[in-house]
Amino acid sequence: MKELNNKSGRAVFGSRFAAIATTVGSAVGLGNIWRFPYEAGSHGGGAFLICYFAFAIMIGVPVLIAEFIMGRGSRSDAMGAYAYFSKAKGWKIAGYLAVLASILITGFYSVVAGWTLEYCVESMFGMVDFSSPEAGHRQFLEMTAGWQPVVWTVVFSLCNFYVLARGVTKGIERVSNILMPLLFVILLVFCVHSFMLPGFGEGMRFLFYPDFSKIDSSTLLGALGQAFFSLSLGMGCMITYSSYFTDKTRLGQTAMTTMALDSAVAVMSGVIIFPAVFSYGFSPSAGPTLVFEVLPNIFYRMAAGGVWSTLFFLLLFVASLTSTISITEIFTSVLTDQYKFSRKKATMTACGIGIVVSILCALSLGPCRSLAIGGTPLFDVLDYVASNILMPLGGMLCSIFVGWVIDRRYIREQLTDNGAYPCRWLRPLVFFLRWVCPVAILLIFLDSSGLI
Ligand code: PHE
Repeated sequence: MKELNNKSGRAVFGSRFAAIATTVGSAVGLGNIWRFPYEAGSHGGGAFLICYFAFAIMIGVPVLIAEFIMGRGSRSDAMGAYAYFSKAKGWKIAGYLAVLASILITGFYSVVAGWTLEYCVESMFGMVDFSSPEAGHRQFLEMTAGWQPVVWTVVFSLCNFYVLARGVTKGIERVSNILMPLLFVILLVFCVHSFMLPGFGEGMRFLFYPDFSKIDSSTLLGALGQAFFSLSLGMGCMITYSSYFTDKTRLGQTAMTTMALDSAVAVMSGVIIFPAVFSYGFSPSAGPTLVFEVLPNIFYRMAAGGVWSTLFFLLLFVASLTSTISITEIFTSVLTDQYKFSRKKATMTACGIGIVVSILCALSLGPCRSLAIGGTPLFDVLDYVASNILMPLGGMLCSIFVGWVIDRRYIREQLTDNGAYPCRWLRPLVFFLRWVCPVAILLIFLDSSGLI
């Protein structure tokens, strides 16, 4: 497979399937399989699911299309895209924020991805002891508190580096084309298995039956943050990936497909996790440790538990790898486009900085507890700042930028491939980008920070 370039020499994805596989590869990650179940579990299940869907459709899809318009229109990286459409220097800040968010996310994301790799390998060799809930808890604490996570984070980051250094077509596209179908196959196997568990009905009721009294501002912020995180929005990731789309890629369709598949994976993860949680008498609101502490406990009680556990953590590893690739590509493409680094040098720099930040995050949970801000470990600080502040802010800026700054004719051209096919939803899209998305994001943001 050769690196494909368009007329202006920019790398492009080779097929429609590749455009979908890579964007879905970015979207589907720890956010769906690790974060979604624990967020839904702590915010009342069905009520959270409804808020999540509402935000994904009403805010996520318009912002995703806005990022696609910026990326494919400018054929540039996250920083260059703002500069391409506006001479006003202030917009450059949005580009800097995107790069900052990508570095912060790499920090904590690679640590969790490292845990998945560690659990996968240890399950494979029968080294995980989950003979009781206490053993599971101890195992998790030992795993996150020692030096091991540092090692596994570095191993994970090297896998990421290996793919990125091979370039857009031979690295990112090829890996996504293979790993994404594999991920869906593993998910389906788990869903079928879940159907046979005694707690299937209870798990389904928890996930799909909404109790509206559970909706408060923290549910709303959680659901909005989840929609942004899960769709990889607000930090230029989709701007970067769409800059590799061909002129023929249909932006609206690609955005809808990405949202649909991404949400499907989140729901499937719920279908896998909640029946298991109820079958064995655990609580769905265990928080971030749900997948790492509770699930292995459940695998331990199942026939061939080691095999299931290995397969599950392999699934998580695959999902996190394709997402981390997209996160690192944001900075890599800024370095190649804006600072004219070679691909190799840019990958080494972006991955190198990413590894340093993730090592600091891993250390902050264990050996170096002093790596904290106001008593909160660096790991949690970076997660909070990136997911709850920088991503919604980035999404709001992008939505305002496309809604108010970019000419409407240009938006139409991008959405219709220069008039080749109709687009009936241009007006509502612009209306959402101008008003609904920024105002909704701002309100939820102010409410959750106690300002209104
Ligand atoms: N969407 C990814 C997930 O769900 C995370 C991600 C965030 C990827 C931002 C790229 C950019 O895990």
